[in-house]
Amino acid sequence: MNQTYLQSLRKAKQIFKKSKVSSPGVNAELLLSHVVKKPKVELYLNGNQFLTKNQEQKYKKLIQERVRGKPLQYILGETEFYGLKLKVDKNVLIPRPETEILVENVINFFKDRSEKLQIVDWGAGSGNIAIALAKNLNCFVYALDVSQPALKLARKNALSNKIAKKIKFLRSDGFKKLDKKLEGKIDAIVSNPPYVRKSDFKTLPQEIKKFEPKVALLSKKNGLFYLQQIIEQGKHFLSKGGLITLEVALGQAKKVVKLIERADNFEKIQIKKDLAGIERVVLAQRKKS
Ligand SMILES: C[S@@+](CC[C@H](N)C(=O)[O-])C[C@H]1O[C@@H](n2cnc3c(N)ncnc32)[C@H](O)[C@@H]1O
Repeated sequence: MNQTYLQSLRKAKQIFKKSKVSSPGVNAELLLSHVVKKPKVELYLNGNQFLTKNQEQKYKKLIQERVRGKPLQYILGETEFYGLKLKVDKNVLIPRPETEILVENVINFFKDRSEKLQIVDWGAGSGNIAIALAKNLNCFVYALDVSQPALKLARKNALSNKIAKKIKFLRSDGFKKLDKKLEGKIDAIVSNPPYVRKSDFKTLPQEIKKFEPKVALLSKKNGLFYLQQIIEQGKHFLSKGGLITLEVALGQAKKVVKLIERADNFEKIQIKKDLAGIERVVLAQRKKS
């Protein structure tokens, strides 16, 4: 006989507990809510309702996927970032709360500017940064990524968030495809680039290592390859006084400051911490003279 919502939730919770999946109750609820297409509260209000055979099979399959380590966001196919709903799949990194700090800093920096800004998002992924900036600033964003499937999803996200007109998605290895006419005209370069070094990759949680795209994570030169490239190549695109804002890994901030100092075109270098107190974002402005 089929099970009720409450019975199914209880069973799923037990399975997650046994498999040491964190937050077993939340996982059980979100997956069931996804399967029966009802908000969480209705699972309890209609707790004695039975799942159909199809729903039971689907719920079982998703529970198994979660037990095998697939991130909840990939199973649900969506996540939230800076108050926005975004689709995610295996081709894009799941946007992280730390990256909201990167976005917040850019928005704060430009909050008193009224003229239209031109911004570059290097490594757009799901489009989270580009979309959040386009929603909150008077700007046009060039969103670059080397991954075609990532750009396809990012475009969908821009459309569903009704902001596609303010963003140009461009398949580009680094800045290669960005129009040279934009040199000296970009007000901000913003990036959460791949910054995990090879030796640290092994130590990442299974959920990340096994399921998130390597192209979004790994970087040569002790994780600094892309950060250095963005600084060295990006400086030519920045306007005088223009902002570079980079997300970095634990322990990288001071090294990135050195790279910026060495590039010789920057001033007002700052490091910002995330909510866990980790130095997470490095900002600098292109010199005015
Ligand atoms: C850490 S992810 C960040 C994604 C998204 N911006 C976020 O914050 O969640 C880095 C992104 O850089 C892209 N990327 C990797 N190498 C690149 C390259 N050479 N040129 C442009 N983008 C690249 C990856 O495809 C990935 O989407």
